[in-house]
Amino acid sequence: MAKILVTGGLGYIGSHTVVELVAAGYEPVIVDDLSNSNIKILDQLSKIIGFKPAFHQFDLCDMEKLEKFVAAEPGIEGIIHFAAFKAVGESVKNPLKYYHTNIASLVNLLKVYKDKPADFVFSSSCTVYGQPDILPVTEDAPVKPAQSPYGNTKQIAEEILKDAVVSGDVKKVIALRYFNPVGAHESALIGELPNGVPQNLVPFITQTAIGKREKITVFGNDYNTKDGSCIRDYIHVVDLAKAHVAALKLMANNDFKGYDVFNLGTGNGNTVLEIIAAFENTTGVKLNYEIGPRREGDVEKVWGDVTKSANVLKWTAKLGIDVMMASAWEWEKYLSQNPS
Ligand code: UD1
Repeated sequence: MAKILVTGGLGYIGSHTVVELVAAGYEPVIVDDLSNSNIKILDQLSKIIGFKPAFHQFDLCDMEKLEKFVAAEPGIEGIIHFAAFKAVGESVKNPLKYYHTNIASLVNLLKVYKDKPADFVFSSSCTVYGQPDILPVTEDAPVKPAQSPYGNTKQIAEEILKDAVVSGDVKKVIALRYFNPVGAHESALIGELPNGVPQNLVPFITQTAIGKREKITVFGNDYNTKDGSCIRDYIHVVDLAKAHVAALKLMANNDFKGYDVFNLGTGNGNTVLEIIAAFENTTGVKLNYEIGPRREGDVEKVWGDVTKSANVLKWTAKLGIDVMMASAWEWEKYLSQNPS
C-alpha cells in the first residue's frame, strides 16, 4: 500500500479524498493544524473507512515540526497538498496571512521532500483564469491578473511548482484546477463545515433551508447570462476527490514526466437561480431568497473544458446537480441533528 501524505486531510475536499484513497488501496497519512477544520471529522472518517487513519496535528509553516514528521513517517510516495486558506474576502483584508500560510507551507513541503521520490498533487483553482475570453475554458487559456491575494497564492504556487520541476527539486507534479466543489459524501458523515457565516453558495442555501439563516441573497441578476445571475461549473466533491486518485495513478506511470495541469469540473455551467431551483426541486424545500446587488470581484461566467482531464487523466465527473443538492442537504440535516 502506497503511503500518501494528505495535508489539510480533515478539511472539506481533503476528507473526501482520504475516503477515495482508502477505497483505491492507498494508505493516507493526514496532516492538519485544525485551523479551519474539526477533529471530529477524524472519527467520522473512521466510521466510513473502518479504521482511524494516521493523523498528525501541526502547522506546515513550522519547519522543525515538519522535519520531525518526515522522520516519523518514512516512505511517503505521494503528497496531496490541500492545506491552505481559501476565503477570497478575508484574503483581501489579511493578505499576509494568505501569503504566509499558503506559500510557506508549499515551499517547506518541497524543501523537506527534495531528495525523496514523492509525487505531488496541488489544489489549484479556476480562479487563475479570471473571466476567461473563451468558454468553456481550457488549460491553455491565459492566467489573468489575480482578483485577490487568495487567487494570487494559487497562481504563485503553480509557478513555484513549475520552477521546482525544472530545477529537479520535485520530479512529478500535477496541479488540479477546481471549479466549484459542492455536495457531501453519501453517508452524510462528512461534508463542508463553514466557519461562521458561509461565503459560498451551497452552504448558504442549505443553512437557509434549515432555518439557520433567514434568507439567501442572489448576488446580481443583471449579468449577461440566460437569467441574469452568474454561471459556475459546480462539481460534486466526491467526483473531485476521485480525480486526486487518478492524478496519483497518472504520475505512477513511467511515461509521465514533469508538470501538468488539469481542469476539474463537469464541463457544464449553471446559474445561481438554476442552482436554487435545483435545490428546491430535489429536496422539496422552498428557499427564501431575494435578488441583491452584485458581489465585488465575482466573474460573470466560467465553466471548464474537461477534454484533457478525460483523455489524459482518464477521469470524468459522474454525479449531477440533483445528487450535489441532495447530498448537501442530507449533510446539513445531519449537522443540525448532531450539533457539536
Ligand atoms: C470562489 C473563488 C474560488 C474559490 C472559492 C472558495 C473566484 C472566481 N472563485 O468561488 O476560486 O476556490 O471561492 O471559497 O474567485 N452567490 C450568491 N449568494 C451567496 C453566495 C454566492 O448569489 O450568498 C453566488 C456568487 O455570486 C457566485 C456563485 O454564487 O456567482 C458561487 O459563489 P461561491 O460559492 O462563493 O464561489 P465562487 O465565488 O465561484
